[in-house]
Amino acid sequence: MRRLFVTGGAGFIGSSFIRLALDCAESYEVTNFDALTYAGNLDNLEGLSESRHRFIHADITDRKAVFDAVEEGTHAVINFAAESHVDRSIASADEFLRTNVVGTQVLLDAARERKVGRFVQISTDEVMGSLAEDASEFFTESTPLAPNNPYAASKAAAEHLVRAAHHTYGLDAIITRSGNNYGPRQFPEKFIPLLISNALEDAPVPLYGDGLQVRDWIYVDDHSRALLSLLEGGCSGEVYNIGARNQRRNLDVAKAVLDALGKPHTLIRQVKDRPGHDRRYAIDPSKVEQVTAWRPLETWESGLAKTIEWYVEHVEWRERARSGSYREYFERQYGMRIGQES
Ligand code: NAD
Ligand code: TYD
Repeated sequence: MRRLFVTGGAGFIGSSFIRLALDCAESYEVTNFDALTYAGNLDNLEGLSESRHRFIHADITDRKAVFDAVEEGTHAVINFAAESHVDRSIASADEFLRTNVVGTQVLLDAARERKVGRFVQISTDEVMGSLAEDASEFFTESTPLAPNNPYAASKAAAEHLVRAAHHTYGLDAIITRSGNNYGPRQFPEKFIPLLISNALEDAPVPLYGDGLQVRDWIYVDDHSRALLSLLEGGCSGEVYNIGARNQRRNLDVAKAVLDALGKPHTLIRQVKDRPGHDRRYAIDPSKVEQVTAWRPLETWESGLAKTIEWYVEHVEWRERARSGSYREYFERQYGMRIGQES
């Protein structure tokens, strides 16, 4: 058995990764270390093998808890734990620095001390900033880091710490940068689950600015499969961009979701733009395709259909995610914006 120490495994991508890791041919067992913030949800772990999945409720910035939990002989640490929403980072960056930067360093220290086989840092294309809307350029692994919002800056800082741990101490580490993920179990503050959840209630769907910003979307399980391939097949010290060659304008994404649900486009409400909003992300995934046999399995159409079907079927999950503090967040984030001209 190869032991994986996964942080943030009760979140959207981490829970997809654990599900697939426990299913795949390699014999993995998983320690899932998660603080259960507003974005963490034990429901996301339903149905996982109890014999090979151990959950620890703790914070990655808690050095003692981390050092107690990471065992010698651990095959890899895979760090998903993060504050992950750009809009929240614009409102306040404190938690982003604490978890994304300090937490990553604590994990690096523990990985080194416990002689962990490999450290995988789950990063994002956002660390490379924004591409021009009308250009045909893509992010590659040598694109300079140029983060434009506090979330992206905190993820870029974490990348630098991982790089430094590899360079200084010889820690076996890789960094992966994927584009925007979509799929089941994503917290409905993010664009696609927000669109689906609001549209299902015939509520307005907020579109920032002119809605012509472009994101490069990847189905969450395709991202997780790429990570599993790189976990064993990636080279230490390397960065890998992960994408499905699927650039979409936000306006077109909103229309596609409404069409799939049979809802009118009049539900789209243009609201004031996000400050510093990045215009376009686009990933060149050639490197991961060269070093592994990984290819995305879902098309945009099949992935979106699966995603919508999951949200339609999981009414209780949606209701629980959108209760309590979510209501306050929604009011703070959109209360002033809905109805405003962009
Ligand atoms: P998420 O917000 O759904 O989940 C984050 C998880 O981390 C939650 O379970 C939360 O409880 C946990 N967590 C937060 N702070 C913690 C702490 N201090 N200690 C322990 N656990 C903590 O995020 P996600 O969308 O699943 O993203 C996972 C990772 O992938 C993040 O590092 C994010 O930066 C990166 N990423 C996300 C996307 C995307 O589109 N969602 C794209 C590229 C990269
Ligand atoms: P989001 O899901 O927050 O991901 P990210 O900011 O990491 O790309 O947003 C995806 C895109 O959708 C982004 O360009 C912002 C836009 N957006 C809206 O237009 N309206 C919304 O209510 C949200 C949350 C996002």
